[in-house]
Amino acid sequence: IFIMIVLGVESSCDETGLALYDTSAGLLSHALYSQVAMHEQYGGVVPELASRDHIRRAIPLLQQVLDDAALTRDRIDAIAYTQGPGLAGALLVGASVACGLGLALGKPVLGIHHLEGHLLSPLLASDPPAFPFIALLVSGGHTQLMRVDGVGRYTLLGETLDDAAGEAFDKSAKLLGLGYPGGPAISRMAEFGDPLAYKLPRPMLHSKDFNFSFSGLKTAVLTVVKNHPGNVCEQDKANIARGFVDAMVDVLVAKSLSALKHTGLKRLVVAGGVGANRQLRDALNAAAVKKHFRVYYPELEFCTDNGAMIAFAGGLRLKQDPRLATHDYAFNVRPR
Ligand code: KG4
Ligand code: ZN
Repeated sequence: IFIMIVLGVESSCDETGLALYDTSAGLLSHALYSQVAMHEQYGGVVPELASRDHIRRAIPLLQQVLDDAALTRDRIDAIAYTQGPGLAGALLVGASVACGLGLALGKPVLGIHHLEGHLLSPLLASDPPAFPFIALLVSGGHTQLMRVDGVGRYTLLGETLDDAAGEAFDKSAKLLGLGYPGGPAISRMAEFGDPLAYKLPRPMLHSKDFNFSFSGLKTAVLTVVKNHPGNVCEQDKANIARGFVDAMVDVLVAKSLSALKHTGLKRLVVAGGVGANRQLRDALNAAAVKKHFRVYYPELEFCTDNGAMIAFAGGLRLKQDPRLATHDYAFNVRPR
């Protein structure tokens, strides 16, 4: 049998995540440092600051996951790191930590696609879905519907033609003065909003494909804010947030349902940061009961960026083909 301890390193954006995954025993340990507080004052991620902070955090976090798993460095069999997409400088930090460590320990390294990490993260849960399934991948940088037939067997059904779902959340939150990151803030605000106050557009809801478009929804929020007489009071902010969330959720649910219908599959996996959204989960859970399918989510802590999903994806890839990990430490990253 194939047993390997894989170290995962994630540094594509504003979280430094490290984890140790044992291909037979499961996740051994994971640690995360979020830079959110640092970027908050700028209203978004500042790439240069992100890179520098990854440098500060990576090695202490490595020590932490080793300590938590009661292992020494030499027990690591392979190292998986996020190769992209993401911020170039941020990715380079994770890649150099991974490859430097690999070189020092004489252990092989393997670059992982960040979205594959997100895509497979629901399999880390205690009751994981079986293949095949439909994956709705909704993060700050991506919005995709995929058919997943197995590890590495992904068919893109549709994706956003402009803004990602999380990006629309963040930009709309900014327009409402709700700070960064906007997703959780706009979601909380929406709870107090009147669903009938603002009916915002649902872009491409009836397009006969699986693509999305969210820039118009964000522009609709801008228009409402601009045309608002005087300052937008708290209740109005909540109403606009509610209009936004309802429109977003309607589109995401409708497209997911049509992907299930089109493929005849009965399992939907939701991954990426927006998958943490309460309103989206409530709507998908309700649809699942009505339409007789099952919906799976990663553990809440593995919805947003983390090292566990990278270690896990690395472990699954290596199980399939151990030769994927190489001793070529001349790393490169793929920001796009
Ligand atoms: O997957 P992720 O951590 O990073 C990327 O790979 O992009 O996703 C981050 C995105 C951000 O846009 C953030 O606002 C959004 O996920 N997000 C949420 C929630 N939590 C995070 N959006 C809506 N509701 C939430 N609860
Ligand atoms: Zn991500």
